[in-house]
Amino acid sequence: MAARILDGKVVAQSVKDEVRAAVASLQYQPGLATVLVGDDPASHSYVRGKRRDAGEVGIRSIHHELPASVSQEEVLSLVDELNADDEVDGILVQLPLPEALEGEAAVQRIDPAKDVDGLHPFNLGRLMLGHSGLRPCTPSGIMRMLDFYGIGTSGEQAVVVGRSFLVGRPLAMILSERGADATVSVAHSRTRDLASVTREADILVAAVGVPGLIGPDHVKPGATVIDVGVNRTDGGLAGDVQFDAVAEVAGALTPVPGGVGPMTRAMLLSNTLRAAQTRRS
Ligand code: GUN
Repeated sequence: MAARILDGKVVAQSVKDEVRAAVASLQYQPGLATVLVGDDPASHSYVRGKRRDAGEVGIRSIHHELPASVSQEEVLSLVDELNADDEVDGILVQLPLPEALEGEAAVQRIDPAKDVDGLHPFNLGRLMLGHSGLRPCTPSGIMRMLDFYGIGTSGEQAVVVGRSFLVGRPLAMILSERGADATVSVAHSRTRDLASVTREADILVAAVGVPGLIGPDHVKPGATVIDVGVNRTDGGLAGDVQFDAVAEVAGALTPVPGGVGPMTRAMLLSNTLRAAQTRRS
């Protein structure tokens, strides 16, 4: 059996088309501020992509780069400045920050109304309560992709491998909320006999950052497998899933690159539009 490949580029394009049309109808131009600290090449590449995407849909990109030697206070005062700037609708502090700095404190400083990453405790709290609002981009991108391909979650068994605050935990919350209605397990590095847990999944999400962790023996025949892994290896970019082998077992599978990544970026634009509409209405 060959899995259906879920093309994140196609779905992301449909989200971007929607955002572009909505932005064009506004009386103002939404602004997205990006804050990049230090010289991590992966972070630079992510932020470059996010800024390019913003430009493509008519969102103004306001970019700030700080050296790795910057103090925590300087990062916080930049966030304060962006919070106070009326032209800024969304603020994204690219994580991780260099080791000497605290990413969590920087995110907590962002005005929750401008928290387009959906990572502020206020927005994560709303998510926990089942309220609408700004939600983390990768989990909402995954939900959007499932919806696009008509893959239902109601009553399904979902297994999320990984418990990060960026992906695993919020995704588990979203999959189990009313409306999505999946039965969710969260597996992680201490899970005993991972394969026996993941083989129960109708929808299996790998978000751990271990290249090739999920092989064909981890997958129930016909399952939908979502690969969130972005691992830089000697052989190039690798997901958490052994793509070729799992494609023989799964019913549907996301590639790396070209799967979840484009969706994360598209949902950032969607969140920026939403933040602008809410703030300026
Ligand atoms: N680093 C890796 N993914 C993300 C993300 O979605 N948002 C931010 N701010 N940093 C990240």
